[in-house]
Order: sequence, then C-alpha cells, then structure tokens
Amino acid sequence: MKTMKKALALGSVAAMALAASAVTLSADEDADLTVNGEIEMIVRTNAPDHLDGHLDMIYSGWTFRSNETQAMQMDDFDNPAMLFVEQGEALFNTAMGPDGASCAGCHENAESLSDVRAVYPQWDEERGEVQTLTMQINECVTERMNAEPLGWSSRDMVNLEALISSVGRGQVVNVAIDGPARETWERGREIYYTEYGILEMSCASCHEVNYGNYIRADHLSQGQINGFPTYRLKNARLNSTHSRFRGCIRDTRAHTFAEGSPEFIALELYVASRGNGLTVEGPSVRN
Ligand code: HEC
Ligand code: HEC
Repeated sequence: MKTMKKALALGSVAAMALAASAVTLSADEDADLTVNGEIEMIVRTNAPDHLDGHLDMIYSGWTFRSNETQAMQMDDFDNPAMLFVEQGEALFNTAMGPDGASCAGCHENAESLSDVRAVYPQWDEERGEVQTLTMQINECVTERMNAEPLGWSSRDMVNLEALISSVGRGQVVNVAIDGPARETWERGREIYYTEYGILEMSCASCHEVNYGNYIRADHLSQGQINGFPTYRLKNARLNSTHSRFRGCIRDTRAHTFAEGSPEFIALELYVASRGNGLTVEGPSVRN
C-alpha cells in the first residue's frame, strides 16, 4: 500500500478541512484480517478490469481503520455488530404477517443463504430489474409472507442483512455487471463520477483520488461496501449502505438521493462491483 501522501487534488480543500492530521491514531495498513482465527479475508487485491486507468489495487475499508477498530472486527466476541446479528437471527425464526410465516419456514436457516451476499445486487429476471439484498428481502416479506415491507434502513431490515452477510463472510465478492444489469451499472458509474454540491465533489474525488489521505481526522478509504452493514462507533448502531451514501453526499453540502431510490440502487451495484475480488466482511466495525 502506498505510504506517501498523495498531493491533494480537491477543489475546496479549505472548506472540507482536508488535511493531514497529526492527532489521528495510526492504522496498520499492511495488516491481514482473519476473523475468529478461521475466516481469512482478502483485504487488498488487484482491482477488477473495469477499473483500468482508475485504480491498480483495491482495499477493504478495514485496512484504513485504527489498530483498535481493526481489532474489534477480528473476533466475534469483540465485534459489537454481532449483537445485531443475533437479533437478526431471532427475527429470522419469528412469524411475521397474517400467514404466520417465518423466514426459517422456507429457508431453514441463515446458512442456507450464505452464497447471497457476495453476488448482490443482481439482475432479477422475473422483475426485470437489478435487486439489492434489501429489495430481495422485502420481496419475500411482501409477496411470500403477505406482510408489510420493512423500512429500507429499519432496524429489522439491517439486522437481517447483517445476519445474511455474517454467514457469507470470507466469500469473494463477485457482482455481475454484464448482460441486462449493464445499463443500471453504467448509471451507477455516472453517478459515482458526478460532482455534487457547492463543493463540486464526486465519490471519486475522495475515494479514488484521495484514499489514504486524511480528511479532518478521518483516514479516507476507497469507500468499498464489502463490509456492510457496518457498526459505527460514532453512532453505536448498524448502518446501511444507502445511509452511508446519503451521509457522504450530505457532507459535500449537496441534496442527496433517497434511500432505496433508483439512483442509489444503481450506485450500490456500481460500488459493489468496485469491490469484486475483496471478501464479504459484513457486519464490520468502523469509526
Ligand atoms: C414462503 C416462503 C418464503 C419465505 C417465508 C421467505 N422466503 Fe426468501 N425466498 C423464497 C423463494 C421461493 C425465493 C426465490 C428462490 C430462491 O432464490 O431461493 C427466496 C429468495 C430469497 C433470497 C435470495 C436467495 C438467492 O439465492 O438469491 C433471500 C436473501 C431471501 N429469500 C431472504 C428471506 C428472508 C430474510 C425472509 C424472511 C424475512 C424470507 N426470505 C422469507 C421463499 C421464501
Ligand atoms: C468529501 C469526501 C467524501 C466524498 C465526496 C464521499 N465520501 Fe464516502 N466517505 C468519506 C469519509 C471521510 C468516510 C469515512 C472514512 C472512510 O471509510 O473512507 C467515507 C466512507 C464511505 C464508505 C464506508 C466505507 C467503509 O469501508 O465502511 C462508503 C461506502 C462511502 N464512503 C461511499 C461513498 C460514495 C458512494 C460517495 C459518492 C456518492 C462518497 N462516499 C463520497 C468521505 C467522502
């Protein structure tokens, strides 16, 4: 991993207080991640071909965190997110809706869904659209359980996603971007490189051009989503992918898209594909 600070290439540097910070805890950027002494994660690898000319290597957000934060993700006993995985598991086994159906009634256990997280979002043939994991879960909730949809970033939804991620940990992210998903993916790519807000910043301004640098006291990562949902020490709860997207766009003082909007669904597919080759880490721990 590069150790030299790159020249800052952002326009409104002063406004964002983007500067190397002396007070920041150092991170061990070269550390390897094995969870529970058995799940070996790929936290750095060659960038997927579609990033040619943009990035040579991709890195998990874990590599940019402080040693203390990194350590919390190395063992489920120390990972505060695992509490929410337990809640997700309880919900998985609970009857919901008028038919008294539970997820477990059809899917037996979460482990039977262990292949899911690494390949979502994905094209859904029947619906003729790209589906995120959130949408897939709500499809089961509304159409197969006849229950009310769960809120996009509601506790129950994010807990179920944490559960389904946790059983997929260690699997290599492999989101398909060709075929019918291509158009949505291209829309996501366009959003990723669009400059928003009075600061005129795109996702790429921070996560492609300036990763490895510090913004205020925060060590900028590549903004990967293989670790979602993430438990953030800052708000002491699980955070969904779209709530993170919203927060990042808001920080550029721009109007943001809604969670679950077509724009964020396209962006999620695109950002997920930038992590093809890393491993599923969710639920991860971040500051
Ligand atoms: C009445 C049966 C039924 C119930 C209840 C049900 N599902 Fe499903 N689920 C299905 C079927 C059928 C599919 C589509 C076939 C498949 O891909 O396995 C599916 C697909 C899925 C998938 C995608 C699987 C894949 O390989 O892409 C996920 C994730 C999922 N369900 C999660 C849940 C969760 C979480 C719940 C509880 C909130 C739930 N399901 C409740 C029947 C059900
Ligand atoms: C002004 C700089 C800035 C911009 C622009 C920005 N982000 Fe971020 N983003 C951050 C900071 C700071 C963090 C927290 C530290 C980190 O993980 O990089 C963060 C974190 C993230 C994370 C969490 C990564 C992890 O491993 O937990 C994701 C995902 C993300 N950003 C996606 C995006 C997307 C998508 C966009 C464009 C819509 C965007 N960001 C725009 C500054 C920015």
